Amino acid sequence: MGANEQPVLAPGRQAEIDQIVAAAQRAASSFRELDQAAVDRIVFAMVKAGIRAAADLALLALEETGFGVVEDKMVKNYVATEFLWDYLKDKKSVGVIEEDADRNIVYVADPIGVVLAITPITNPTSTVLFKAIVAAKTRNAIVFRPSPYAVRCAERAVEVLRAAGEKEGLPPGAIQVIPDPAREITHYLFRHPGVDFTWTTGGPKIVRLANESGKPGISVGPGNAPIYLHRTADIRGAVVDILISKTFDASVICPAEQTCVVDRDIYDAVVAEFERMGAQLLTKKQAAQLAEFAFGGDDKMQLEAVGLSAPELARRAGFEVGPATKVLIAPLPADLGALGRHPLINEKLMPVLGLVRAASEQHAIDVCALVTEHGGLGHTSAIYAADDGVIDRYAQVLRTGRILVNAPTAVGALGGVYNSLTPTLSLGCGTWGGSSTTDNVNYRNLLNIKTVSRRRTPPQWFRVPSSTYFNAGALDSLRDVDTEVAVIVTDEPTEERGAVSEVRMRLRAKQVRVFSEVMPEPDQEVVLRGLDLLQRTRPDLVVAVGGGSVLDAAKAMRLFYEHPDLDFDDLALPFLDARKRVANYPQAPHSVRLVAVPTTSGTGSEVSPAAVITVGHRKATLVDYSLVPDTAIVDPLLTISMPPAITADTGIDALTHALEATVSIFSSPYSQAFSVQAAALILEALPRAYDDGGDLEARTMMANAATLAGLAFSNAFVGVNHALAHAVGARFGLAHGRANGIFLPHVLRYNTAVPSKFMPAPGYSSYVAPVKYAQLGRVIFGGRTEEESRQRLFTAVEDLLDHLHMPRTLKDAGIAEEEFLGSLSEVTMAAFTDLSIRTNPRMPLLNEVTGLLRGGYYGTA
Ligand SMILES: NC(=O)c1ccc[n+]([C@@H]2O[C@H](COP(=O)([O-])OP(=O)(O)OC[C@H]3O[C@@H](n4cnc5c(N)ncnc54)[C@H](O)[C@@H]3O)[C@@H](O)[C@H]2O)c1
Ligand SMILES: [Fe+2]
Repeated sequence: MGANEQPVLAPGRQAEIDQIVAAAQRAASSFRELDQAAVDRIVFAMVKAGIRAAADLALLALEETGFGVVEDKMVKNYVATEFLWDYLKDKKSVGVIEEDADRNIVYVADPIGVVLAITPITNPTSTVLFKAIVAAKTRNAIVFRPSPYAVRCAERAVEVLRAAGEKEGLPPGAIQVIPDPAREITHYLFRHPGVDFTWTTGGPKIVRLANESGKPGISVGPGNAPIYLHRTADIRGAVVDILISKTFDASVICPAEQTCVVDRDIYDAVVAEFERMGAQLLTKKQAAQLAEFAFGGDDKMQLEAVGLSAPELARRAGFEVGPATKVLIAPLPADLGALGRHPLINEKLMPVLGLVRAASEQHAIDVCALVTEHGGLGHTSAIYAADDGVIDRYAQVLRTGRILVNAPTAVGALGGVYNSLTPTLSLGCGTWGGSSTTDNVNYRNLLNIKTVSRRRTPPQWFRVPSSTYFNAGALDSLRDVDTEVAVIVTDEPTEERGAVSEVRMRLRAKQVRVFSEVMPEPDQEVVLRGLDLLQRTRPDLVVAVGGGSVLDAAKAMRLFYEHPDLDFDDLALPFLDARKRVANYPQAPHSVRLVAVPTTSGTGSEVSPAAVITVGHRKATLVDYSLVPDTAIVDPLLTISMPPAITADTGIDALTHALEATVSIFSSPYSQAFSVQAAALILEALPRAYDDGGDLEARTMMANAATLAGLAFSNAFVGVNHALAHAVGARFGLAHGRANGIFLPHVLRYNTAVPSKFMPAPGYSSYVAPVKYAQLGRVIFGGRTEEESRQRLFTAVEDLLDHLHMPRTLKDAGIAEEEFLGSLSEVTMAAFTDLSIRTNPRMPLLNEVTGLLRGGYYGTA
């Protein structure tokens, strides 16, 4: 039947089938009402009934199917009941089945509903026992479609279980069987809207049909298990294991051994041991006769050859073996091509074992892989070896869901006897074999497991550098720094102003070198040149003296000096969450101490984890706490020389840090303690420092404020204001603080308005940015209402900008309109992808970024 054809059933029969499914659906809804204890009572009753009936069912299966070994079928029935119970008895399958307190997650089990179960001729009763008990454990109704050759024994198994289960409250209709052999019924059920899940065990054809039905399900197919006997194998143990397993239920079970591949060194010994234990090595001629009889000369196994004893099979194939012969061993070609064409490479549901002499380990693994490609992909394989190396190599190559080590496959794969695999009669074959899983399928595969995930707010942090020295004269603390070889990183103007000699005279180093090539808004080039000097000098101390540009360059130099293999672009990769970022900064202790001595009162770089480096027309931010300088020396005496324009630019940068940290999604009471104090100091002292550069008190307030703001944004980070300033600064060569000042009033208004889009952040649950501004305003300027306090703050910011004669638009800052408009989309993208934007409370949309840029250019909001 093609995938899209609807099977045709007689109308009366169709109605009957529909009723069976409807009964199953009703049973499934009653089943949902039961709790774990009720379910386990039912399951226990079913298990006990199954154990009591194990022998009878085995006999019935043999009688009906005509093949197998009754004792072994009984073992399988025990696996499907006793072993299964041992595995299931403590398992939760109802309601909350698992809790993960660390992740704040709870798993809740829900049944699937109605399961259609296809069962095979080879394990006709054990599979029914197994699937029915698993269905009950998971509160699913199950409808069986047994192999047409094993209907009666399946019906009997269902009767036994149903009777026992119903006594304990199993809903009527929960276990049913539809016995008619007609294939159309199965096809009809595969597409039945009342069937929720198909659970198929069978040959490749039915597996394909089940998979094509379009229903969720698990289908498990045939195997063709290769066994590798490595030269380190325990030969006697291996031979007995293989014989146990190969004779188990006359080898009709799908994980049974099919072809043994034996290392050359032990080949003769293995054959001798097999013969000693009752197997018979066939001649090439006998093997050919057997192939002819069992496979009719091609790849298709003949049903009349299945499940016979070894002597009987030999007789039918046309030769005689001893009456006690357990297994016939057919020597197969070692050449991969010839082996691939040999009919006996296929699955042999009979006591016939292929045997291949391997020339090397690689050859043996290749042969095993080839065997699996003839119908055994995804199922089972095994290796006997004492050498862990070869076991690992084998497991790497073989594509089978189970790889058993030093154990028989037939009994071993079912789990619980030779190993701790999950007991099952449903062996997932992975995608290689048309299954959705490689599991030993069990109750979890029959549940819809719901994940109840409670909100988790990750803890925050507040980190500060190890020491900060401040106030006039702080530079003297340099005298206490232990050093032999020091490098001073700075820029030319700073060196010319004498700041470098101030530092040099306080250092007790044997050797001091100066690198004074840093430029404002430093680029990668200058970092590389500084790196070169560090590599030649091999210092134990770097003292960075200058503005933010110098400090940032020095941070990057130390990073790449200590770790020359790091890739700049990788480190500058943007990220959403610092804890999950891809970039990997080394966390080892530094070999070089970094002392940061700012000469501007702005960036806070002396305490911050960031270093902003210009790459082409963009600014890239390296950020990690490993970049934080070891010591900050904040000496206002060094800032006295700043001319008013630089005082203004850098001071406004510091104010922007404080204001952005205040509303950031990472703002915390800790960061706020710093940002509020910083803002208060700046609003008071910056006009004074601007008007009178020699006002030491104002300079001191500004120096401390810039560092306090640095501590605030080192932990709370900045926002869209910085994203805009970075993008514009890099594109038009505008001083960082000046660019910040142009956007500041726009960003304050932007963050105060109700966002068109909120920034998703677990620690930030209601939109409090406007309130945060108001709180800051009230601390500094008072005000009776939120609105009033916020307005006072905003007005103070505007007044300050005017007082400092800051350009209020990009146009005033000297950027030509054509140039601005020509690069608007590029600058929008640069700002949009800037790291700083991620911590802004309002999520800036692309068109809003463009709007803010326009506002910055034309002065309109
Ligand atoms: N790492 C961070 O956390 C962080 C934060 C904000 C900004 N930044 C970056 O910092 C850089 C800006 O730093 P900045 O604002 O300090 O300016 P800057 O370091 O670029 O210095 C600007 C100019 O002022 C001069 N100067 C510095 N100190 C002086 C003084 N005392 N007297 C006279 N002249 C002096 C410098 O020589 C330079 O010519 C930008 O690259 C910006 O992106 C970094
Ligand atoms: Fe800044």
